[in-house]
Amino acid sequence: MLAAAKQRYGSFQDSLKAPIHRWFTYPAGYSYKLVEAKIAGNRLTAQDWIADPFLGTGTTSLAAKLTGLNSVGIEAHPFVFWVAQTKLAFCLDPAELAADAEQVIANAQSVVVPDLGAVWPALIYKCFTPANLRHLYSLRQAILELDGLPAHKDLLKLALTGTLRTATSAGAGWPYIATNKYGQRVVERDAMAEFRKQCAAFIADLRQVQFEGIPPSEHRLIQGDAREFDRHCAPASIDLIVTSPPYLNNYDYADRTRMETYFWGIYDSWGDITRQVRDNLIIAATTQIRISQMNGIGQCPNVRRVNPEIHKELTEIIGKLATIRKSKAGKKTYDLMVAGYFEDMLKVLEGAYSVLKPGRQFVLVLGDSAPYGVHVRTDELIGELAHSVGFSRYDIEVIRSRGGKWAHNPQRHKVPLRESILTVVK
Ligand SMILES: C[S@@+](CC[C@H](N)C(=O)[O-])C[C@H]1O[C@@H](n2cnc3c(N)ncnc32)[C@H](O)[C@@H]1O
Repeated sequence: MLAAAKQRYGSFQDSLKAPIHRWFTYPAGYSYKLVEAKIAGNRLTAQDWIADPFLGTGTTSLAAKLTGLNSVGIEAHPFVFWVAQTKLAFCLDPAELAADAEQVIANAQSVVVPDLGAVWPALIYKCFTPANLRHLYSLRQAILELDGLPAHKDLLKLALTGTLRTATSAGAGWPYIATNKYGQRVVERDAMAEFRKQCAAFIADLRQVQFEGIPPSEHRLIQGDAREFDRHCAPASIDLIVTSPPYLNNYDYADRTRMETYFWGIYDSWGDITRQVRDNLIIAATTQIRISQMNGIGQCPNVRRVNPEIHKELTEIIGKLATIRKSKAGKKTYDLMVAGYFEDMLKVLEGAYSVLKPGRQFVLVLGDSAPYGVHVRTDELIGELAHSVGFSRYDIEVIRSRGGKWAHNPQRHKVPLRESILTVVK
């Protein structure tokens, strides 16, 4: 295995070049090659079950389906879950999809576009010119009104969702919508032409993937909570778990799809997204913290129960962060974020221990972190917590160093960070 290939395991770069995986650009996604390598390394065969409690846009289940394995995938973010479901339902006739795509493009020409002044939240108007918004509106209507298979409509919705990112003039990059914050100029592209390109890519992928040859498999996708893993799978029923949980890096997953969910009329405000998404995710960002609702989580009662040593280390980190917070203008609640993260991840570990067959592996791609410059050895702590809940051993393979892209930021700490593959064995 080339080191360079492994370095990409935690990133979405490989998946962006692979048929079907590439249907939605999810920078938080990981490489399908990691999943394939773990399936092969664990010698799984067609009857076996692989699970991912943080399914994201479906990389694990899709890799399983393309190899003929069964899968269980859990994802709490409803829109991201819909993307995963739509990708997994790829067994469609490319010629029929192409006909529906043409129909949508033709019908879009005759959609009567109303005054678009108050159709969407303000963010959408910052991302597109009025002319392009008219194209987007027409395509949206034409898809919603298409008299076609629901699976085709979903795929065309996904193609239009991808169009939003490639057409916009806003610096719609990673991680959030930011209008050219770092000075780069992004040119707006014609939405109609971009939609055509997206559809063409989907159809080409359907032609390329010869799904008739793949052994049939079962995929249980659950819009649910990774902290309830053992409610969704029977005890000792899973042969391998491969996942990438949110990193402890203050990244707000609920905000990542703001443009998409506003455009489709799913949410219309920060409060709406908080209630329907943010509040249901494991704690990994300060935007999820409401101090009055933490109910003692800051003391990490469950970590204390399973491992007093780790509890001591976390208590020191949390104490330092609480002190630093008082001196900082932003007053970020990193202390509670760290406490909440480990309490939540502990529940995931306990569930994983229950659902995994004895002797089998739970593989996690993880990053460590240093909020306010205080290092948290996340991968090792999660490994030790896993040991405390019953896993027999753990191993950490560092795949790359992280944080370089923030080097220009003088506010940023200088603690070297890493991304690793943590493997725990039941
Ligand atoms: C690092 S991403 C996983 C990406 C995935 N490997 C892929 O390739 O698309 C972590 C995912 O965990 C989801 N998530 C956060 N909290 C969750 C929870 N409590 N239950 C299930 N999923 C959750 C987030 O919405 C996000 O999609």
